[in-house]
Amino acid sequence: MSDQPETEVTVHAGATTGSTRAVKAVIPAAGLATRFLPATKAVPKELLPVVDRPVLQYIVEEATAAGIRDVLLITGRGKTSMVDHFDRRPDLEARLEEKGDDARLAAVRGPSELADIFTCRQHEQLGLGHAVGCAQSHVGDEPFAVLLGDEFVKPSEPLLPAMLELQARTGGVVLAFFEVPPAETKRYGIASVAPTDGEFADLGDVVEVTGLVEKPAPEEAPSNLAVLGRYVLPGRIFEAIGRTEPGAGGEIQLTDAMELLRAEGVPVHAIVYRGTRYDTGMPLGYLQTVVQIAAERDDLGAEFRAWLAEFVASDSPGGAQ
Ligand code: G1P
Repeated sequence: MSDQPETEVTVHAGATTGSTRAVKAVIPAAGLATRFLPATKAVPKELLPVVDRPVLQYIVEEATAAGIRDVLLITGRGKTSMVDHFDRRPDLEARLEEKGDDARLAAVRGPSELADIFTCRQHEQLGLGHAVGCAQSHVGDEPFAVLLGDEFVKPSEPLLPAMLELQARTGGVVLAFFEVPPAETKRYGIASVAPTDGEFADLGDVVEVTGLVEKPAPEEAPSNLAVLGRYVLPGRIFEAIGRTEPGAGGEIQLTDAMELLRAEGVPVHAIVYRGTRYDTGMPLGYLQTVVQIAAERDDLGAEFRAWLAEFVASDSPGGAQ
């Protein structure tokens, strides 16, 4: 199934006794995206473009860059066009081939060559934990990665490879954190942590997680370390999700299922990520993402930056033409 070497590891009490490196990714993408209405009435938010590629393509590329070739999309009603994006388009390809437009031909074929894309339907939107639970029959007992469908990291500052390696060593739950201002804790899963003794120093700033809480008010937040939308989970998370009661927002939360495992002795670690995270889940973050990525593009970045600088310097919006 995989040509990755098996890694035998010693882990803390309560965890599995060895772990293989995760080779599958799950992308929960069934949400209704109410923050983006009406744009998302007929178009899944995962297909909103960042310059000329949909958000979801950046996310699948992040998984494949980390060596993952098996990607399960958790979808919902009205979201089948996400799958079309990763299919071939023979009619379009033939037309581009006739015209000798090799660059566009490669761009159209690219998504279909990235990975094997599988889908599974979440029939009711009962929360992120519930969505991940839908992956059980595809994933089985093996560890797997979860990539949330509305955020991604800068390709030159990758996160997932170190997370996959850390999970193969611990056999437990591996998360990534980023620092948020205290007022924003209620938007994220928040952790309390303890330092590690340098055991995983080769993988970055690794901390041990001593508690997890979903969307706490600032006065109840144990820290300002927020859960980033990347997880590498052991197969036993499914059984924990099955035992998880609805939590914040009345939803079955992945954070709560992970906290259950942690309280039962499964090791939970996290890498504190200080690279660039793009959050396309809300209009402001989406706009920031588009601007940053456009400004860095080889083909149009220089022209765009020049225009943007002029636009920002001008007194009135729309003043710089
Ligand atoms: C989800 C998770 C949360 C995490 C966040 C990251 O929240 O439940 O723990 O911090 O993603 O983006 P959501 O954005 O679905 O409300």
